[in-house]
Amino acid sequence: MQEKIRQISEEIERLVAESQEHVEELRIRYLSKKGLIPSLFADFRNVPPEQRKEIGQALNTLKQKANDKIAELKTGLEQGARVDSDETDMSRPAEEISIGSRHPISLVRNRIIGIFQNIGFNVSDGPEMEDDWHNFTALNFPPEHPARDMQDTFFIEKGKDYKDQVALRTHTSSVQVRVMENGKPPIRTLSPGRVFRNEAISARSHCIFHQVEGLYVDKGVSFADLKQTLYYFATEMFGEETKIRFRPSYFPFTEPSAEMDISCILCKGEGCNVCKYTGWLEIMGCGMVDPAVLDNCGIDPEIYSGFAFGMGIERVAMMLYSVRHIRYFFENDQRFLKQFTPAL
Ligand code: PHE
Repeated sequence: MQEKIRQISEEIERLVAESQEHVEELRIRYLSKKGLIPSLFADFRNVPPEQRKEIGQALNTLKQKANDKIAELKTGLEQGARVDSDETDMSRPAEEISIGSRHPISLVRNRIIGIFQNIGFNVSDGPEMEDDWHNFTALNFPPEHPARDMQDTFFIEKGKDYKDQVALRTHTSSVQVRVMENGKPPIRTLSPGRVFRNEAISARSHCIFHQVEGLYVDKGVSFADLKQTLYYFATEMFGEETKIRFRPSYFPFTEPSAEMDISCILCKGEGCNVCKYTGWLEIMGCGMVDPAVLDNCGIDPEIYSGFAFGMGIERVAMMLYSVRHIRYFFENDQRFLKQFTPAL
């Protein structure tokens, strides 16, 4: 008798039902007048008195269990549930699929590239580890120039002489040297990429960041072309009302050189804490390619001239999205990254 109770009890635990009719069949099998459990109760008469207490309890538990199971199957089906024996509930809503999102640096980079592609610029790529020639010498950095100093550059190999040095590139102008060496004007190219500078980390600078630099070399390219091209870029990128201004600056590879500012995208030039009440935001360096650089790259400066510019993507992204610290771009915290959508 006890063995039978145990068997039926196990059977009940494993029950599954496909339809309400099925549940009814199971109810009849176990609980109807002639069902398995009532017939066990009928057999109870034959149980010797000393076992009655124990078996009686087991029988009552079994009956309760069968009732509960039938009720569970019934309500489960009513809710559209099909409870499998291994407890897999096929009707449970699926886990939410988390879809990745583009990194804000990629979004801003792609946007910058798109704007220049519309006016005929292509994209070129180069190594992150550079020799001295491409990162410095071809770009007219004198041997004693402070930018070659350990302060700014991560050297990989010091070499016997500065010419043998290998370093992580400090700007993507090195890619432009490669493009000029390997191609002929007209050249209209962008070099986006990661750059490295041995600088103290602050809210606005990091030792690794991203740049997009641009180069245009052809016959008769003038500063007016530079201004108009960058004005076009600024209005496409930051809105039609954006104003630009140029301030004289210095880079070894451009002459004249300038720093370009845009009117503050938040206060539109009125003055706020983002532009430090100046109404302007500094966004890129630019200038006319120094004839010595063209010469170094095998382009005749008597025939050709060009302009170049370069900007930090993190800086632009910080302005556009009001991000307060550059480190957020490198922490890969999904709560931060998920907030960025392609529509700027
Ligand atoms: N290479 C410069 C930098 O890293 C930017 C720049 C590019 C300036 C081209 C002028 C012309 O800051």
